[in-house]
Formats: sequence, C-alpha cells, structure tokens
Amino acid sequence: MANGQASLSDTGFGKTMRRDAWWVQPLLTFLGLSAFIVYSTWRAFYGQHFLAVEGGTNYLSPFFSPIVYFHDLPGLSADLKGALAAHAWLGTMPGWVPHWVSPAFLILWAPAGFRFTCYYYRGAYYKAFWADPINCSVSEPRDNYRGEQKFPLIFQNIHRYFFYVAAVFIFILGYDAWQGMWFVAEDGDRKFGLGIGSLVLWGNVILLGGYTFGCHSFRHLIGGGINKLSKAPVRSKCYECVGCLNAKHMIWAWCSLVWVGFTDLYVWMCASGTWTDFRFF
Ligand code: FES
Repeated sequence: MANGQASLSDTGFGKTMRRDAWWVQPLLTFLGLSAFIVYSTWRAFYGQHFLAVEGGTNYLSPFFSPIVYFHDLPGLSADLKGALAAHAWLGTMPGWVPHWVSPAFLILWAPAGFRFTCYYYRGAYYKAFWADPINCSVSEPRDNYRGEQKFPLIFQNIHRYFFYVAAVFIFILGYDAWQGMWFVAEDGDRKFGLGIGSLVLWGNVILLGGYTFGCHSFRHLIGGGINKLSKAPVRSKCYECVGCLNAKHMIWAWCSLVWVGFTDLYVWMCASGTWTDFRFF
C-alpha cells in the first residue's frame, strides 16, 4: 500500500495469485493488433490494386476510401483510370508527391486515430503492449500509475472528436458499397447486380457501423445532457439502440477489424486477377 493506493508491484512484475490463463488475452490482443498494423501499413505503402474493375466490378477497398487524389501512373488501363477518376474527389495527385504516398495515407489517420483512442482498445493495448497492467490483479512493471490525466495520454481524450469523423466514413463506405452494386455491362451501361464482393463490402459497412455507433462517446452524446431521458422518446429509443451495440463493443471492435482487413484483401485479390468475383445476378 503506497500513498493510500493498493499496489501489487512489491511482489514483482507478472506475479499474481490468479490461477487462470490470464496471459492468453493480452497475448492474443498483441498478436491480433500487431498483425493488423503490419498488414495495413504495408498495404498503404504498396498502394496498388485497391480498386477492382475486372469483369465490370467497381469494388473500392475501405483502406483507400475516400480517394482524395490518385497517381496517374503509366501502365494504368483505361478502365481503371476512368474508375479511379470517377472515385477521386480532387483528381490526380500533384506530380511532386512521391509515388509511395498512396491515397491511403491521406485518410487512414482518421480510422486509425478512432481505434487507437477507443476506450476498449486503450484498455486492451495498455495491457498487451506495455503491460500497464498486463492483466487485472497481475503486478505491473512500474511503481506508479500516471493515468491519462497527463501528457502524452491526455490526448486520448480526443476520441470524441474522432467519432464525428469516423461516423462520416461509415456513410462514405456505404456509398462505396452501393456503387459496388452497379456493374459495367458489355454495352458499357451500368447494371444493378450482386456479387460476392458486394456482400463483402456491405458486411464491412455493417460491422464498422456496429462498432462506430456503439462508441461510448456516441452513447454519451445521445443520452447525456438531459435530466429525464424518458421525456424524450425518440432520443430514449436511440439511446437504447446505442446501449445495445455498446454492450458488445469489444465483439464489434474485433469483428470489424478483421472484416475491414479481409475486405481490403478481397478487393486486392480481385483487382490483381488472383480471385474472380462470383456474380449472383
Ligand atoms: S469507445 Fe470504442 S469506438 Fe468509441
């Protein structure tokens, strides 16, 4: 006991009276998050095959959406160049921008910042990456806990602002999924259809939506600042829905993380011709 606070540090780092496999959860978190960080960083640098137009498809990877600029590289097919131009908000990337600066670099800071500052992930990666503590009732490698009231962790409070940006992304990805249901027919017209890729893109929107709209900050936004929620029936219903998503926030967090990675992989495989998208109609 130091300064009136309970401490387990006297017993040495990793010492505990717990008899369960307390190390499994932080280990899985460490492996899962590390794999995702390595994959997404590599994809951002690779910067190719993020828009699939093969066989009339129009699937855009969520790692690169929205496309603000695109590099007008030599060797782009006319179909791909046309599709990129249609997606890009501001056209081609200025010539002085190095080619390794893919469209992902311009937008990935937003979802990455949202996840990095998420209340659930904070609890998970504090345990998994710097063992502070490594799990509940397991002694820490440090004697004092500095918390999130001081630099640099005080910046985690920016999460509520990241929420606003992340919410906009859900609508953008929904629009991409909708666009992905309009396939280019042989006569050049776009025809409404459904492919495996459409399901993959919509699955991504649903899972990311469930994660984003179950955010603790959103819950506070909906249910906070009012004394009697029961007097605001619409708001009360929304609060109930957000609370329902929030109760399973960890599940949504992991499912959406895995699925957004898989969605990018699917688009990459289709765009590179490794996989062929199956069309239901
Ligand atoms: S608390 Fe997890 S996304 Fe906001």
